[in-house]
Amino acid sequence: MAFLTERDKKYLTKEDICAHVGDDYADYKGAIVPPIFQSSLFVMKTEDNGIGDEGYNYTRVANPTIDVAERKIAALECADGALCFGSGMGAITASIFHFVKQGSHVVMISSIYGVTRVFLSDYLKKFGVEVTSVNSDSTEEILSKVRPETTLIFLESPSTAVFKLQDLKAVADFAKARGIATVIDNTYATPLYQNPLTYGIDLVCHTASKYLGGHSDLIGGVVAGSRELIEKLTGERFFLGANMDPHQAWLMIRGIRTLPVRLRQHAKNALAVARHLEASPHVLRVFYPALESFPQKELVERYLKGHNGLLSFLPRGSTESIRKMISKCRIFQNGVSWGGFESLIVSISVGATKEAAASSDVPVNLVRLHVGLEDVDTLIADLDQALEYLEA
Ligand SMILES: Cc1ncc(COP(=O)(O)O)c(C=O)c1O
Repeated sequence: MAFLTERDKKYLTKEDICAHVGDDYADYKGAIVPPIFQSSLFVMKTEDNGIGDEGYNYTRVANPTIDVAERKIAALECADGALCFGSGMGAITASIFHFVKQGSHVVMISSIYGVTRVFLSDYLKKFGVEVTSVNSDSTEEILSKVRPETTLIFLESPSTAVFKLQDLKAVADFAKARGIATVIDNTYATPLYQNPLTYGIDLVCHTASKYLGGHSDLIGGVVAGSRELIEKLTGERFFLGANMDPHQAWLMIRGIRTLPVRLRQHAKNALAVARHLEASPHVLRVFYPALESFPQKELVERYLKGHNGLLSFLPRGSTESIRKMISKCRIFQNGVSWGGFESLIVSISVGATKEAAASSDVPVNLVRLHVGLEDVDTLIADLDQALEYLEA
């Protein structure tokens, strides 16, 4: 199924799209898995060489394996088109560059992924772009900080430390009426559980290095949007030289095929771990959008169709003992990133100053877990023995 017809769109579920859409079997000699076109260039048609015009010339511009991945992402995000990038940051920075120029003003939420925050608020200064950081869970504050020169509102909902949500439709309606672009990092929800374009957001970015890949063996990024915007964004990708490699694209296609089943298991394990931590005397607070105690429940129900393996918690104890607790985990490995098969534990703000924590909406001593696909009883036992090292 190379392209979705209107009839396909009516009955294909996300599971069907993950499994089949974009794989044009006829084009690949019937291969059920598309080949990796690991080729930097494509011989072009001449009068005599007998080669048809396939529309490919150089992989920095386009490549058939990358095209398969882009068709899958576009269908999953309810978009006209998608573009793959060499990393999530490649996708995010290209999208931001598209909507800013000298003198532009950007509104961004404060609990955004740290590297995106530094790019927006520090790096872009040299181009004269001003940025206002706003409380991630206050739609009123987001809207109230817009100025006549605002060209972009950058969202991340839920964010990935304490999972703050924004009201996507309210922000998109407000921005559209004023000609302001909206871009969201939708990595937490994945294209399975939230489709921001359907609420009027202009561009959706993901890092594919998390669940889209799903096996901690690739770095990649994607952007989805309208035909017009995606065509324009090929300019940024071309100049920045930020296209995905065909082998990365192939790994991402393979990851996407099992995305629905992996996410269900991550969410099941994570909910059990979150409830267990919530009941532990060693834990002050747990942040996980599927918990009954989660503060923005109404927005969760309105926007999220499912959950994943990412959660965070505030341990009860000194900074030193929290560091010790992290080092005593045996199954949860101490590592950044998330979205792979494995369980991870990482300090987000252990030992941070109150001022640094306040500027990013992240409380001091926050520990993040990625709950993997291991047996949930093993995971809980691992955490229980590590929590014993906490002392006030
Ligand atoms: C929410 C979020 N967005 C974007 C990125 C950047 O993605 P990449 O590492 O693929 O550049 C990350 C990386 O951890 C992330 O967690």
